[in-house]
Amino acid sequence: MTDQRPLTIVSNRGPAEFDAGEDGERTVKRGGGGLVTALTGLVEHRKALWVASAMTDEDMAVARETAGAPTAIELDGISYDVCLVESDPTAYDRFYNVIANPILWFIQHYLWDLSNAPDIRRSELDAWEQGYREVNADIARAVVDAISDQEEPVVMLHDYHLYTCPGLIREARPDVFLHHFVHIPWSQPDSWRILPHRWREEIYRSMLANDIIGFHTTAYCRNFLHCCRELMELEVDYKRGSVTYDGHETWVRAYPLSIDPARLYRAAESDEVAGCEKELLKRRRDHLIIRVDRADLSKNVLRGFTAFDVFLERYPEFREKVTFIAHLQPSRQDVPEYAEYLERIEALVAVVNHRHGTTDWMPIDLRIYENFNEAVARYKHFDLLIVNSIFDGMNLVAKEAPAVNTRDGVVMLSENTGSHEEIGDCALTVNPFDIEEQAEAIHRALTMDAEERRLRSERLKQIISSRDPGDWVDEQLVDIRAKHERREAVA
Ligand code: G6P
Repeated sequence: MTDQRPLTIVSNRGPAEFDAGEDGERTVKRGGGGLVTALTGLVEHRKALWVASAMTDEDMAVARETAGAPTAIELDGISYDVCLVESDPTAYDRFYNVIANPILWFIQHYLWDLSNAPDIRRSELDAWEQGYREVNADIARAVVDAISDQEEPVVMLHDYHLYTCPGLIREARPDVFLHHFVHIPWSQPDSWRILPHRWREEIYRSMLANDIIGFHTTAYCRNFLHCCRELMELEVDYKRGSVTYDGHETWVRAYPLSIDPARLYRAAESDEVAGCEKELLKRRRDHLIIRVDRADLSKNVLRGFTAFDVFLERYPEFREKVTFIAHLQPSRQDVPEYAEYLERIEALVAVVNHRHGTTDWMPIDLRIYENFNEAVARYKHFDLLIVNSIFDGMNLVAKEAPAVNTRDGVVMLSENTGSHEEIGDCALTVNPFDIEEQAEAIHRALTMDAEERRLRSERLKQIISSRDPGDWVDEQLVDIRAKHERREAVA
């Protein structure tokens, strides 16, 4: 296996989303979320074919036109070879809106309120059979086609949408090398008992068809191995990070994802960001608090606002001196829990603003849209960044924002984020449920002396810039090579 062998990467969301503009002209924009950021780094680094679901109507039109062949896409100076896979729209809706988000996402972020939900009824059972399994089968077929003329192909799968894919690909191509990176936490064994036994078995059996499974942290690796022991009664080797099922060995490894500092530095210097900064600086008060997130329940936006409310109540001297900009990107609005969450966010902001606001001061400035340039402008000027996720696979904002910050801004960081394993020491660590602690952390950050802020910020920048996505890819490729050689030696 040579280093330059083309890779096939597979994920639900691809790097680009096609839409039809008002004039009917086809537009293309970058896909959102941490996964796309990570894989963009991978594609820049290595030649790869990217297989992804067709998510919009226009994506489907492209999928039909290309009939399974790769399309070349040029976006922000990067070229991608993308193969879009069309599924039946009802099957896709069940896959995405019933099983992947919310059921699997909620399990892996411990979001279910178990005395109330979820109910596994006929509709969920159908969504599993004719949704999740069906879309996974569509994608597996596309992958098998894409690698049909490759010897010893390497396929890198991504995330919780594709848990039943590896088993299907392995069945069709026993010689394939399968690597699966999970971008979200792997939760502890009992959380998986929510799933009907049959689904659970199928997920674990298929995941164990992989040669390597990657996570952001060692804690998630341990959880995965615990699950194999507790739920599948398998022997696991914690020291080597491996588990054997049906004579096939799977390595379980941590590869913490890094950001691409160079891309951010470039953006931070751009005219577009300068324009946004001008606007921001006109309106900022003495202190600027920011948060930048997808509007996702796992991000814990409500408790963050409640902590700010407590802070303003307790330290009235900060009234009119601080602005909290909450920049939230709408997400998964066809899942009722997400739509309701956004409504609760808006309602709470109205309450806090009403309680503390004055005629010319709005304590929380809520911005619900996606805008990369505005986000970067905010990154540059924050005094406090709030990342208080309930649980979060990595959280790249905690790394991106300090990388370009110019004010020795402080980071408040939930201990339940993957990034806490790397940068927790330089941040103000909080328990995401402890509102009192978060209110005090806001005060501590805004009153911290300049020297401590400088030391923390310098150290943060150092850690963040010491790795880039190329390193993340290389570490995985080194293990792919090592595991491949071991497989050959055993055969
Ligand atoms: C997280 C997940 C990704 C997902 C992204 C955006 O980063 O790990 O798999 O793509 O969120 O979510 P979406 O549902 O919009 O793809």
